[in-house]
Amino acid sequence: MINALRGMKDLLENDGEIYKFIIDTCQSVVKNYGYKFCETPKLEETILFKRSVGQSSDIVGKEMYQFTDKSGNDVCLRPEGTAGVLRAFIEAKFDRAGGVRRYFYYGSMFRYERPQRGRLREFHQFGVECFGEASVYEDASVILMLNEILQNLGIKTRLKINSLGDNECMPLYKEKLVKFISSNQENLCQDCLRRLKTNPIRILDCKNENCQNILKTAPLITDNLNQICQDEFNKLQEILRANGVEFEIDPKLVRGLDYYSKSAFEFISDEIGSQSAVAGGGRYDKLCEYLDGKPTPAVGWAMGIERVMEILKQKESQNTRQGIYICALNPNLIDEIYKIAQTLRKRYITEISYEAKSPNKHLNIADKKGFEIFLCLGDDEFSQNQIWYKNLKNQDEKRISIANLESEI
Ligand code: HAM
Repeated sequence: MINALRGMKDLLENDGEIYKFIIDTCQSVVKNYGYKFCETPKLEETILFKRSVGQSSDIVGKEMYQFTDKSGNDVCLRPEGTAGVLRAFIEAKFDRAGGVRRYFYYGSMFRYERPQRGRLREFHQFGVECFGEASVYEDASVILMLNEILQNLGIKTRLKINSLGDNECMPLYKEKLVKFISSNQENLCQDCLRRLKTNPIRILDCKNENCQNILKTAPLITDNLNQICQDEFNKLQEILRANGVEFEIDPKLVRGLDYYSKSAFEFISDEIGSQSAVAGGGRYDKLCEYLDGKPTPAVGWAMGIERVMEILKQKESQNTRQGIYICALNPNLIDEIYKIAQTLRKRYITEISYEAKSPNKHLNIADKKGFEIFLCLGDDEFSQNQIWYKNLKNQDEKRISIANLESEI
């Protein structure tokens, strides 16, 4: 038997439905903020990710699905979406055209990590990127958008925010941090000893206990921001508060990708174990230039769909229920339910069963497949122009008149 590769999963049956439900929920929110769908290739030149995600990041250093294609090109499967969307934006010369453009995307990302709960080698993200808007109000908007999505999905999270400064204050902070850590480096883990040379701020989010102990008295970026970054960070907090969004400031939140400056944020769930980041993002104003585009401010985020799916499944969330399952108890009534289904399909997802089974067997199937409404026509109901209705979200059951079906649903 041929199986899927390690760390890669099929999305079948209910998983496929939950996946689509999450995408639909995300889309309906981001579209109202002016974000438009885009799709970019899953395979790109390796150099794109080396330059954007960063040579010193774990993603580029250890986790890329990188190979040489038949023409000798050094290519890799995308480990994340931002770099590809920005590459497409620059290739279309939109950086030179100016103005603000907002995109959303979803699909597979690939990271050759050690598979564990919440960590796959092929996983899916829903992401947004806004190009050309320098205002911190946009940072706030993308966070509010994500907050609204998570609320609509019924998921409880904690929001962590930080500012990673800019090209002026971050290098000064790094110097201070390196000086501090260098004088305490005897207990650093191997990874952090390497990071000390390549990317010292990644030491801040090392999970190793010894490293964390050293960091207890380390200087914090939030105490070392220049005036512009401090003002913007304050403004971001003010907008979030004004919109009723709770957050905690985490000066050790540095994110695993090298392209961020100023705002960085993550939504954390306490329900999915150690891989607890449900979504993350931030501002990356310098990346367009690094990829040979014109200087273009940018901000965005991506959500890990499998992590959201796990939370929804754990809660056995009834939120994901949707659509109508319609069946008949007598084969002679199939024409009748077919007629009804065709009317319902103009407005609702409707699945029809042509099989004669007991009402309970039909009900079980509708329940397992995650339908919201169960409709069943028996001879008795039909003789009275009625149909049996059960709402599988709230368990409400009744007979309703076929003529009034649409208004009752
Ligand atoms: P990221 O934090 O690397 O950011 O990934 C975003 C989300 O993808 C994570 O919060 C997590 O939920 C999910 N994720 C990451 N790796 C895995 C994995 N191996 N298995 C399952 N889920 C995973 C980015 O990718 C940035 N491009 C986000 C961004 C967009 N920043 C600005 N714009």
